[in-house]
Amino acid sequence: MAEQPVIKLHDGNTMPQIGLGVWQVSIDDARKAAVKALEVGYRSIDTAAIYKNEEGIGQALQETDVARDDIFITTKLWNDDQLNAEKALETSLKKLQLASVDLYLMHWPCPAKDHYVEAWQAMIALQKQGLAQSIGVCNFQEAHLKRLIDETGVIPVVNQIELHPMFQQRALHAWNALHHIQTESWSPLAQGGKGVFDQEVIKNLAKKYHKTPAQIVIRWHLDSGLVVIPKSVTPSRIEENFAVFDFRLEKPEISEIATLDHGKRLGPHPEQFN
Ligand SMILES: NC(=O)c1ccc[n+]([C@@H]2O[C@H](COP(=O)([O-])OP(=O)(O)OC[C@H]3O[C@@H](n4cnc5c(N)ncnc54)[C@H](OP(=O)(O)O)[C@@H]3O)[C@@H](O)[C@H]2O)c1
Repeated sequence: MAEQPVIKLHDGNTMPQIGLGVWQVSIDDARKAAVKALEVGYRSIDTAAIYKNEEGIGQALQETDVARDDIFITTKLWNDDQLNAEKALETSLKKLQLASVDLYLMHWPCPAKDHYVEAWQAMIALQKQGLAQSIGVCNFQEAHLKRLIDETGVIPVVNQIELHPMFQQRALHAWNALHHIQTESWSPLAQGGKGVFDQEVIKNLAKKYHKTPAQIVIRWHLDSGLVVIPKSVTPSRIEENFAVFDFRLEKPEISEIATLDHGKRLGPHPEQFN
C-alpha cells in the first residue's frame, strides 16, 4: 500500500491529508477510536474543546506506541472562549496531556459577536509562545477571512469547512487555495453517507475499484486536494476509511461526482451561527 499523503501548510509545517474525526463521541470511545486509528496508521486526530473528549485523546496518546512527534493533533477554540483563548488552550492542553497542539483552529467566526479578530490576535500570540505549532480557522467565509488577513496580516493555514459531494463549496475552496489556505473537509461522508452512498455514480465507482462508497468519497476528497477527517468509532470502518491509498479517481470521475453538488448544508450557516 502506498504511503499516506501529507500536505505542506503555508507556515512550513506539514499535516497528514487524512485524519480521524471524533465529534459526538464520548471520552472513552474517543480513546478507543484514537488508539485503533493510530494502530491502523492514521497520524492525525481532530478534536475540539466543545466535543468534550480531549481527555480521551490525551489517554490514547499515553497508550499508543506511536511517538508524539509522529502524531498531528488538532483542537479548537470554542465560541464562548473567543475572548479567553489563552486560558482555553491551556485547558485543552491539560486534557490532551500535551505541551502544544499541532493545529489550533477557531471553531466558528460568530460574526454577530464580532470577536473573531481579537480571538485571532490571541491565537497568533499563542503560536508565537509555541503552544500551537500552526493556527487556522473553521467555518470562515471569504469576507471573514479577508477581514482577518487585512487586520492582522496573518493568514490561517487551514479553513475547515463543511464539504462533501452534496455540498462541495467550490468557490470557497478556490478562494482558500488562491490564498494558500488549505481546505479541510468536515462531515466528509455527509454524516454517514446521507444521500451520497446510494448515488449511482458512487455505487458504480465502488464496483469499478472494488471499494466501498465511503472509500470512494474519501478518495474523492484526497484527489480534490482536500484534507479529510472521517469520523468513526467502529473499528472495521476506521480500517476501511484508511484503506484508500491503492487507487485514484480519474479526472472524468471527479467531474461526475461534481454533479452531485446540491448546495445544501447539513450543518448551520456560518453567517448565522453565533
Ligand atoms: N469544525 C467544525 O465545525 C466541524 C463540524 C462538524 C464536524 N467536524 C469534524 O469533522 C469530523 C467528521 O465529520 P462528522 O463526524 O460530522 O461526519 P462524517 O465523518 O461525515 O460521518 C460520520 C458518520 O459516518 C459513519 N461512518 C464512518 N465511516 C463509515 C463507513 N466506512 N461506512 C458507513 N458509515 C460510516 C459514522 O458511524 P460510526 O462512527 O458509527 O462508525 C458516523 O455516523 C468530525 O468528527 C469532527 O472532527 C468539524
